[in-house]
Amino acid sequence: MWLLLKGGRIVDPSRGIDEGGDLLIQDGRIVGGHNAPVGEDGRTIDCAGLVVAPGLIDMHVHLREPGYEHKETIATGARAAAAGGFTTILGMPNTKPAIDNRAVVEYVLNEGADADVNVLTTGAATKGNDGAEMAEIGDMVDAGAVAISDDAFPVQNADLMRRVMEYSRMFDVPVLTHCEDTSLTLDAVMNEGVNATILGLRPWPRQAESIMVIRNILLSELTGCPVHIQHVSALESVGEVRWAKNRGIPVTCETCPQYFSLTDAALNTYNSNAKVNPPLRTDADVEAIKAGLADETIDAIATDHAPHSLEDKQVELQYAAFGMVGLETALPLVLTNLVKPNVLSLCDAIAKMTIAPARILGLDSGTLADGAVADVTIFDPDATVTVRADEFKSMGRNTPFDGVELTGKVIATIVAGKVVSSDE
Ligand code: DOR
Repeated sequence: MWLLLKGGRIVDPSRGIDEGGDLLIQDGRIVGGHNAPVGEDGRTIDCAGLVVAPGLIDMHVHLREPGYEHKETIATGARAAAAGGFTTILGMPNTKPAIDNRAVVEYVLNEGADADVNVLTTGAATKGNDGAEMAEIGDMVDAGAVAISDDAFPVQNADLMRRVMEYSRMFDVPVLTHCEDTSLTLDAVMNEGVNATILGLRPWPRQAESIMVIRNILLSELTGCPVHIQHVSALESVGEVRWAKNRGIPVTCETCPQYFSLTDAALNTYNSNAKVNPPLRTDADVEAIKAGLADETIDAIATDHAPHSLEDKQVELQYAAFGMVGLETALPLVLTNLVKPNVLSLCDAIAKMTIAPARILGLDSGTLADGAVADVTIFDPDATVTVRADEFKSMGRNTPFDGVELTGKVIATIVAGKVVSSDE
């Protein structure tokens, strides 16, 4: 079986390549651009005008299964990923039951094995995500968890977090951490500032994030454990990570498209789809995030894809669930808000969605090198698309970008040489 991707712009940040050419896939692997297809059994895809990139990797996704299958299942989340150009997704452990032991890790990986894209899982830092007792980290890693995370339920006790890091280091997996001092965010709805005051909504200070970012950086220094700061939203957090990297502490971080595309002004219409944790911030934060992306302080772009049902979202703002879906808008938001305005080159932007998360998670994907498994994304970098939430493959419709015109369109997503999504 062969697939020839002909005449595209091949962008492979893992090898610093951005040039025109062909890419040949044979029996599920990349065999390079200068080989001829072997055998009759194959087809050619004309990629003129299109970018051919390594399959995108999203290291921050809520798949909601087990327990919240009315919001998303592993199968629907994977379908949404394929539609958005992602070939690998990493699920977070805030399911019900939590992904906090071998049995649930195995369940998720078994379900994921039949899904459209590669489904990986984290394991929870604490049992039941309750922040009190450490989960069986070694057992979960043995069962296939690629990282440990406290996402959505940030561990408040510094000593417990220290132990989580010590164990994770022992088992050679990073700790992905949701940085929030919850004593500062009780009942908070949106970023503390002028807009929260005008709207009369309970404020969420930026310090709730940056206090925990610096705590976790210092614990990373103490334990030597690679720590990855999730969904960075605040200017101060960017500065803290920059300081940590200069100091040689093994810290990496991600941001999400909402934090460089929107500010808390998006809540001025009481649109609950703009209610996320951490909250949307200000213009100064957006600029700091962009600067952090450009100077490599921010390693990766993830989505924090957080599907919710209409019932969870169509309520008064203070009762609405936190989160927005992201898998099917991420690439166009990156192209529109980072690449088009020259914040990042196309190659650097793709790096943050491919080789950077692969390296953080210790995966051998995120590359188009000869011999690699053929996970590939083909997209039109110039097409104009209007976001239509009701056409999402995700069960979640909760996006503040519904109806917005963006640049960039996924044309095909290929996993291990098989086309799993295409816009014929
Ligand atoms: O907005 C968010 N939603 N942030 C999180 O950290 C959790 C997520 C969810 O699970 O819905």
